[in-house]
This record gives sequence, C-alpha cells and structure tokens, in this order.
Amino acid sequence: MIAGANKPGGLAKVLGPFDLILMGIGAIVGTGIFVLTGTGAVTAGPALTLSFVVAAIACGFAALCYAEFASSVPVAGSIYTYTYATLGELAAWMIGWDLLLEYGLASAAVSVGWSGYLQSLLASYGYQLPLVLTAAPGAVPGVTTIVNLPALLIMLVLTAMLGWGVRESARMNNIMVAIKIGVVLLFIFVGAPHVKPDNWQPFMPYGYNGMLSAAALVFFAFIGFDAVTSAAEEVKRPERDLPIGIIGSLAVCTILYVIVAGIMTGIVPYKEFLGVDHPVTLALQYAGENWMARVVDAGAILGMTTVILVMAYGQTRIIYAMSRDGLLPKKLSSVHPKYQTPFFATWMVGLFFGVVAAFVPLNILTELINIGTLAAFSLVSIAVVIMRKKRPDLKRTFRVPFVPVIPALAVIFCVMLMTYLSWHTWVAFAIWIALGLIVYFTYSRKRSLLN
Ligand code: ALA
Repeated sequence: MIAGANKPGGLAKVLGPFDLILMGIGAIVGTGIFVLTGTGAVTAGPALTLSFVVAAIACGFAALCYAEFASSVPVAGSIYTYTYATLGELAAWMIGWDLLLEYGLASAAVSVGWSGYLQSLLASYGYQLPLVLTAAPGAVPGVTTIVNLPALLIMLVLTAMLGWGVRESARMNNIMVAIKIGVVLLFIFVGAPHVKPDNWQPFMPYGYNGMLSAAALVFFAFIGFDAVTSAAEEVKRPERDLPIGIIGSLAVCTILYVIVAGIMTGIVPYKEFLGVDHPVTLALQYAGENWMARVVDAGAILGMTTVILVMAYGQTRIIYAMSRDGLLPKKLSSVHPKYQTPFFATWMVGLFFGVVAAFVPLNILTELINIGTLAAFSLVSIAVVIMRKKRPDLKRTFRVPFVPVIPALAVIFCVMLMTYLSWHTWVAFAIWIALGLIVYFTYSRKRSLLN
C-alpha cells in the first residue's frame, strides 16, 4: 500500500521540516484572519480573541492526534490511509470523501476572499472591474453579479503551477509565506499604538453564545495545518518532520491571531465591522494609516495565494491515494512522466473548484468547510485510540500524551463547535455524506484493490 517515493512512477521526495512549517503557515493564515474576523467581531465583540483561543484548543487537541498519525503512516493522503488501517475501508472512504470537500471548498473559498482583496487594492488606485464579473450570483444583496472572475482565474493559474511540480510550488510558497507573516507583523506594530482599551468594553456583549458562535466561524482560520500530513510521501524524514510541521505552524498562527483580533477590536468599535470584508485594512484606515492599509491589502493577496496553493495541493494528494487504492478511477493517480506530479487529477480538481469559486458565495462555502473539517477531526481522534488498542506494535515517532483523555477532548471540542453551525449546513453536510455512501457502494467497493 505504501507507494515507493524515489521509485520510478512515484512522487519525488524533496521536502524538509522548514518547508513543512512554512507549508503549514501557508495553508493556515488566509481568509480566516483577513476576511472572517469582521463577521467574528460583530458576532462575539472583543471576545473574538477568546473565540480564537477556543478554536485553537479544538485544533490543538486534534493536531496532536494528526501528528501521531503522520509519524506512524508516512504515505500520501495519510489520514485517509491511517483510517483505512484502523477503521476499515468504509470509514477510510468516508474520511477521504469528507477531506475532498474540505480541501476543495477551502481552495474555492479562499479564492473568493483573494478576489475581494484584489478588488479592494484595485479600487484604492481607482480601478473597478465590471460589477457582474466581481462576485457569484446572489453574493451581494441588491447587486446583479454573474461570476467571480478573479477567483476563477487565480484557481487556474495556481493549478498550472501545481501541475508543473512540487519543488517549484514549495519554493514560491516559502517566499509568499514570508511576505504574509511580514504583513501580519506590520499590522501588529503599526496598529498597536492606536488601540483604545475602552473599545474592549463590554468584552463579551453577546455572552458565551456569541463567543462560541464566532469560534465555530473563525475555526476556519486554523484549517490547513492538516494539509501538511498529506505531503507525507514527498517529505525526506516524515516521522520526525511531520509532527514538527503540524504543531509548529499551529502554535505560530494561534499567537498571531489572538494579537491581531485584540488589536482590531481595540482600534475599531466591534459593531462597525458589520458587512466589512476587509476588516484588517479597515482597522488601519480607521487609525489613519492609509498607506499601510494598501501594503496590507497587497500582502493579504499574496498570503491568500499560498492558502489556495496548499489546499489544492492537499486535495490532489488525497485523490491520488484514494485512486491508487482503487476507490476512485485509476487515471486520477497517474503521475506525469516529466513533472512527477498527479497532473490529470490536479487539473480535474482545479477546473471543478475554480467553477465553484466562480459561482458560490463565501458564507455558504465557509460553514460547509467547517462542518466537514470538524467531523474529520473527530474521526481522526477516535481512530488514534482504536489504533493504540489494535496495533500497539506500530512504530510511532510521536505519541499523543494522556490517551484517551486528549482524543476525547478533541472530539468534545469539535462536536461542540459543530452544534453552533446552522441547520442548513447540517443538511448540506448530510447530503454530501449520503452521496459519498452511494458512490462507495455503487462504484468504489467493487473496484477496491485492497478489499
Ligand atoms: N485557514 C485558512 C484560511 O483562513 C483556510 O484561509
């Protein structure tokens, strides 16, 4: 089942721990901090800082479980593969199916956020795209929009880059991540002196309910650290480097988010974020730092580019693994002879989710992604406990401490956040799961190579 990487036809092993932490940050910092903090602040008030902490705790527990996975089964799409080994093919299929939704929709959602910041930057120089080409139908109340063209275009450009090869993409990613962190730090240093502590009162205007609802939303801001595990087959020393990549990138992001949320709500009274889709820039403009706002706009655009890249990358690698096991058509795991990438799968996914980005509004995408991811985190945490019982012999370079307490806490936090999402989201998620079961029982089960 383990596809030999340095073997002809396998994927090239080119990534080290530094690449992975950058890849993690590249996947994590994006639309969540740059766009959703606006709605988050309106929902929770200044307690948005606490919302980030709650979401980070849920992710932290799940991240420990992910790290144990990653350190014991270093193959592509490893969460899916590990579930295969612990809970059997049906559970593995479901988690793979769930992750397809997460990564695919996330790359589409971030493309939509990217498009918003691009338009904001263009507007600051006096340029405006024809309105019908700026958003999905129905995305802006009272405005006729047909297609989000910038979102579609960025998806296509990045798909082409991924198709050419991991090494080039990872290098480009490193540069963009450096710029992104630079911009966030710039916001912190420029914004901090403008904070008026009075704006932090009342701290929790909508009580725990508001704070937790915002946590269920800004949970999105942490999605992505798990994308690191899907690169396992291309990592030089996966058993050591993967846990470093996951936990390191999550820790860095949590610290940055809490500080950014505190400064934003300290500069601007939280109610003024209503309907704002460039909250970070708004805070700087509010403080009179217009020039810095433009720099942050540009940095956010680059920052979100890396998120799309890593999400799309993670998805192609999961499809690759599922196809290799026979659960999806064989063509999806064919590797390009020259570029050594799953070229066909990359383009299939890029085209499909490019179209999703062009035609589906951001709020619908975000909630769906969150529910899918929280469900996957819960399953992974349960699987760690089962695996300890079933395969105590397996070599684990990283072990979750206090099993089963930490996996149990991961499940409790994730399910708790899920209960704060809307019922429409639950219905849509149920339909996706039902669809997955139908595909499995009518197609995948018969063709499985391992069954
Ligand atoms: N965490 C990623 C973002 O916020 C998905 O854009």
